[in-house]
Amino acid sequence: MRKQISMLRMIFLIAALAALVACGKGNSDAPLVDSNGKHPANWIGQHGVVAASSASTCTECHGENLTGGIARVGCFSTPQTSFNGFVCHATNPTVNKGCDSCHGTPPNGITAPNRANAHPTHMGLAGVTCGTCHNGAGSGTANHMKATATGGIAGATVSFPDTLKANTITTTFAYDAASGTCSGIICHGGLTTPSWSTGSINAATDCLKCHGQGTAFRTPQFNSFYSGIFPFPTGVVVNLHQFHLISKDPTSTAGALVICTSCHNTDTLATLHFAGLTTSSFEVLPGDTLGGGSTNITSYTPYTSGVPSGHCLNSCHAIRYWIN
Ligand code: HEC
Ligand code: HEC
Ligand code: HEC
Ligand code: HEC
Ligand code: HEC
Repeated sequence: MRKQISMLRMIFLIAALAALVACGKGNSDAPLVDSNGKHPANWIGQHGVVAASSASTCTECHGENLTGGIARVGCFSTPQTSFNGFVCHATNPTVNKGCDSCHGTPPNGITAPNRANAHPTHMGLAGVTCGTCHNGAGSGTANHMKATATGGIAGATVSFPDTLKANTITTTFAYDAASGTCSGIICHGGLTTPSWSTGSINAATDCLKCHGQGTAFRTPQFNSFYSGIFPFPTGVVVNLHQFHLISKDPTSTAGALVICTSCHNTDTLATLHFAGLTTSSFEVLPGDTLGGGSTNITSYTPYTSGVPSGHCLNSCHAIRYWIN
């Protein structure tokens, strides 16, 4: 009995669609659906453009309010969230046009596929575009707006151009959706990042989340810190970054250790730093980030080829030389 009714409904639907094929041509010469009531094969990719030029031709089959109509295929979440492997619009596409019917550019909300997470932080950085992290994906690609097998929203495709590979990759160069972390990426000095959705970095204090002690100048990572060679008379060479970071800060009554910002000025870094995270070079002279503010350094004279030359005036000790 149920089968018969659905059979009858099917026949009615096909008949109704066949009648509509005749009038459902819109402004173009090509019919919107064939005699079986099917749109052309690559319709998913084209339908936005056709709808933009004649949205009224869609409502005759998809319903006045686009929730399904005679076609029984709604354009947004109700009645279904996916169709033929693609995620439908999250909201009414004639009300919120273009990308905004599903997500902001960049995403700016709290529900998929519009969860902002760390997008705002990253989009404010020089040289960063959607393609920096969604290389080969996004609108108009086969990787875009995919549904999962059960009709949910698949994770966004995250992939990076090779130019973002960190100098020495000991870990995977990729985004791991399970942990929400990136690794082997130049912007974070090759170190594994905090989670995209729950992690955070305080750029004024979390230097070690992106920088590591080097074994030679700009080695193993482009942004490793290593400079500062102190040639003891005996010929023993000490790395002054390493040496300072294990020493007590003489100006600290609490006996705290020297930290990055004892020498590198956070305020200066806030304006100069991150000018080119996506390149392998330093966009500003490292020496320009030293001294002033709450650092222990009053003035810094950069190293030149002469020895002795590079040194700082500071509140910790008398002049000593810093060779890069
Ligand atoms: C003559 C009736 C009819 C008209 C007019 C019509 N559709 Fe459809 N549409 C259907 C039917 C039936 C389906 C389900 C079968 C299919 O996928 O082709 C459908 C499915 C769709 C799908 C899912 C497509 C897929 O292949 O995954 C989209 C998107 C769509 N329509 C958009 C539109 C837009 C945009 C317009 C207006 C420019 C429009 N339709 C006009 C009947 C129609
Ligand atoms: C710094 C890297 C980065 C940049 C730049 C970036 N994204 Fe993303 N995006 C991600 C990551 C990581 C995810 C989460 C992927 C996952 O786990 O599903 C994501 C997810 C998304 C999602 C899905 C959101 C959700 O709720 O699931 C959309 C949509 C998106 N991005 C669009 C954009 C657009 C548009 C731009 C440019 C305006 C952009 N992204 C720039 C890294 C980035
Ligand atoms: C019909 C809904 C819909 C529309 C419209 C839409 N998107 Fe998306 N977009 C999604 C979904 C869902 C995701 C996350 C899952 C996926 O891509 O499989 C996504 C993900 C993305 C991503 C992350 C990379 C990717 O492909 O997964 C970018 C970038 C993006 N969209 C850009 C855009 C831009 C730009 C526009 C407008 C020109 C747009 N989107 C319009 C649904 C949409
Ligand atoms: C999000 C990752 C990240 C954090 C956090 C970070 N850095 Fe950097 N830093 C980089 C990268 C990548 C470079 C090299 C590319 C560039 O020039 O922007 C760099 C460059 C530098 C330079 C060279 C000058 C310059 O701006 O190019 C200095 C000095 C520096 N960082 C010090 C610090 C100090 C001190 C802190 C903590 C207060 C810190 N960084 C926090 C990623 C980071
Ligand atoms: C004792 C002072 C001092 C401390 C502490 C210090 N630096 Fe430096 N840093 C310098 C000097 C001096 C230079 C060389 C500046 C130049 O090139 O003229 C430098 C250079 C750098 C460079 C450029 C690459 C290099 O090796 O020359 C980076 C990156 C850097 N520091 C990051 C850091 C980070 C991150 C910390 C904390 C983990 C830190 N520094 C701690 C004084 C310091």
